[in-house]
Parts: sequence; C-alpha cells; structure tokens
Amino acid sequence: MNIKTMHYEIIGSNIPKELSGYRIALFSDTHNCSFGENNEELIAPLEAFRPDIVVFAGDSISKHRYDTEVYGGLDNALKLFHDMGDRFDVYYINGNHDARLQELCNGGDPFADCFFRKKAEKAKKNLPESPPDVFGDYIKAIKDAGIKVISGRQEIIADGRLALTGLELPLKYYLHRCDSPDINEIKALIPEPAPGAFNILAAHDPQHFDLYREWGADLSLCGHMHGCIVRLPLLGGVFSPYRTFFPKYDYGRFDKDQKTMLITSGCCKNFFRTRFSNPLEIVSITLLNNGES
Ligand SMILES: [Fe+2]
Repeated sequence: MNIKTMHYEIIGSNIPKELSGYRIALFSDTHNCSFGENNEELIAPLEAFRPDIVVFAGDSISKHRYDTEVYGGLDNALKLFHDMGDRFDVYYINGNHDARLQELCNGGDPFADCFFRKKAEKAKKNLPESPPDVFGDYIKAIKDAGIKVISGRQEIIADGRLALTGLELPLKYYLHRCDSPDINEIKALIPEPAPGAFNILAAHDPQHFDLYREWGADLSLCGHMHGCIVRLPLLGGVFSPYRTFFPKYDYGRFDKDQKTMLITSGCCKNFFRTRFSNPLEIVSITLLNNGES
C-alpha cells in the first residue's frame, strides 16, 4: 500500500525569521503496522522530505479491549521506532491505544475510553491483578532507540526558536460524547508555552482545537481520526470514531486567529476503518516567515 505525502506551508509573522524554511514531518496512528523491509515504505517518503524533526502523534500500538491478549503486539512498533531513531530526530506522544496499555500496567482503568461499558466491565474482571510493566519496558526501548518521548513535557529546539510540547489527555476524554476538558486541566498537564518561540503542540485528539489555541499553540499536530470511519470524495469525513456524523475536525488543515491545526489520516493499514478515498499518508510541513517581523 503506497503512502502519500501531504504537504502544508505554515506562513506567519509568528514564525521567527531564523526558522523560515524549517521542515517538520508528522506521522501518526501506525497501530503496530509494519511497512515493508526495514519499514522503508514509510521511511523513504520521510527521507525524501529531509525533515529537521519528525513528530509522531500517537497510537503506535493497537490494544484489543475485550480480551486478555494485552501483552502482545508491540514488536512491529518497536522495530519501526528502532529503524527511525537511527535516521531522524523523532518526538513521540501516546495516543489512546498506547494509553490503554499504560493504564493497565499502572493499575488504572484501561477501558476508560471504551464506548461499550458493559463489555468493558466484563473484560475488567479477566485482567490480571499485577501485570508486568510491559508498557514501561516498551517506552524505555523506544527511548533507547533514540526517540524523544515528550509526554507532558516540552523540548526547546532550533536555538530556542521552536518549542515542542506533548499533550496526553486522560482516556475518559476519548469517550463518545464525553465532557471536554477545560483549559485549566490542559494547563495542569503541560508546561506553559515558551515565550519568544514558535509553539507546536503534539496532541493525539483534534477535538479540542479551541483549547489548544487558548493554551497558546501556534501549530497543533493531531491524528486519531483516521480520516473518519467513512470518507467520501467531496463530502469528506462522514462518520467519526466518536460515532458522530460529519465531525467538525476530521482531516486536514484548520486555521483560526493565525493559529493552525493539522490532522493526519495516519498510517494504519489494518484497522477496521475503511481507507476508501482515504490513503495512508505522512505529512510534510514547511514553516515560513512572512517577512512582516
Ligand atoms: Fe486514537
């Protein structure tokens, strides 16, 4: 399956002149897929773009919620990040699928984002009481491969001109028609935007663009939606993972008040969602100063 490259230019006076021409690649929702020998199907288009940094916007694994086969299915994800860590400066956040395994290993509720509550309660009874910390081992292996995990952290890069922050919302906010977090909760989860820098927020779920802007994100990078469960030419995303029709934020570019959010449809080959009119993609982003500052 070919992976297309979707290109965006972000042009603004809030981009420092010294950062003009800076290249960022975004990919997401790999869900434990592999991409050919040494993952070249994914890595080759990334290398062709020659990014300064690469951002992964979550869901590196797929965890089945209704069975107890919760410890498998990490091998392809580990291989992918190992292959990428050698070649790129990669920044990683968890998505809700990664967070389920994290919750399980930390003694939390790995089913907090589960729509079918009765099934979730039944599945909980089958979980082991003290599971090994496979998620901790997984994250350690990713870090050992050279990947920078920015969960709840901020990295200042490009001589202080770019700040990259990783937001991970609690699983409950992924529930169908869930309450939205408020701005104070967002602020409690991540550092403040870096003054004087172009602030990028990596956040798996695009539903909270208003809050990301309010926090101070000049550019929000998201995935999660897979371009929607059903996507049609001209109409776009018809039915979302939240079981809503025609979601507001499904795919592509959204601009408001000189702030931008990009949503990638991701790289998942084998999820249940259709890829009709919805190819696998990586995103290439070029930052450009508009000459006004
Ligand atoms: Fe997701």
